[in-house]
Amino acid sequence: MARTIGIDIGGTGIKAAIVDVENGELVSEKIKVGTPEGAKPADVADVVHELVEQLDPNGSLPIGVCFPAVIINEVAMSAANVDRSWIGTNVGDLFEAKTGRKVHVVNDADAAGFAEVKFGAAKGVNGLVMVTTLGTGIGSALIYNGVLIPNSELGHINLPGSKWRTAENLAANSARVKRNLSWTRWAERLQVYYGTLEKLFSPQLFVVGGGVSKEYENFLPLLELNTPIIPAQHFNNAGILGAAALAPFSD
Ligand code: BGC
Repeated sequence: MARTIGIDIGGTGIKAAIVDVENGELVSEKIKVGTPEGAKPADVADVVHELVEQLDPNGSLPIGVCFPAVIINEVAMSAANVDRSWIGTNVGDLFEAKTGRKVHVVNDADAAGFAEVKFGAAKGVNGLVMVTTLGTGIGSALIYNGVLIPNSELGHINLPGSKWRTAENLAANSARVKRNLSWTRWAERLQVYYGTLEKLFSPQLFVVGGGVSKEYENFLPLLELNTPIIPAQHFNNAGILGAAALAPFSD
């Protein structure tokens, strides 16, 4: 069995489990801890180390990590919802130094999207699949014929009629909660967002992830699109599964 430790780093929580990357299944308990106050690199690295020690003490399983920023060659290039000191940090090197293991880092939405195509709601779908995660921000993943096109960052587009506000400002789940929007009012914003993406990319399928996708019945049926739009299958485990599956040394 090919196994990797998958770790999903978020602004509020850090989740980890051992993953069977052939079948896309968690093969250990999932451990979830709070993100340290301020989410500074050194503190997060300590948590990653502790999680690895708990899951695989004295072992040598490699680690796949997903992180909420643009990641190029393991380096964080943005910090929309995390501490700015991550920008320019080689996240892979930081965690490798701390854990003594091989670490591979990708964007969180890319990991979740890849997991949905490989093991979930979009399995077997060819052409362009667009996966979006509706959370604190909006993450996006583009997967064409099973190949991930990384760092698409489509949560940061400006929506028509909203000169200075990005899609994630207006339509992330955090915007719904903060402004106490009804499902109907929130769906109006999502309609503009997905309508824009549809016009620009003509995908085969939209998959909607993030914690709120569990409540998809409240908002997905309100959207009128030409493209099918379905909830993610792995919900909050998708990041762990995709991070583990994208680690190139997991075979
Ligand atoms: C970040 C993305 C991330 C998304 C979801 C956005 O603010 O720019 O990199 O994928 O939030 O966490």
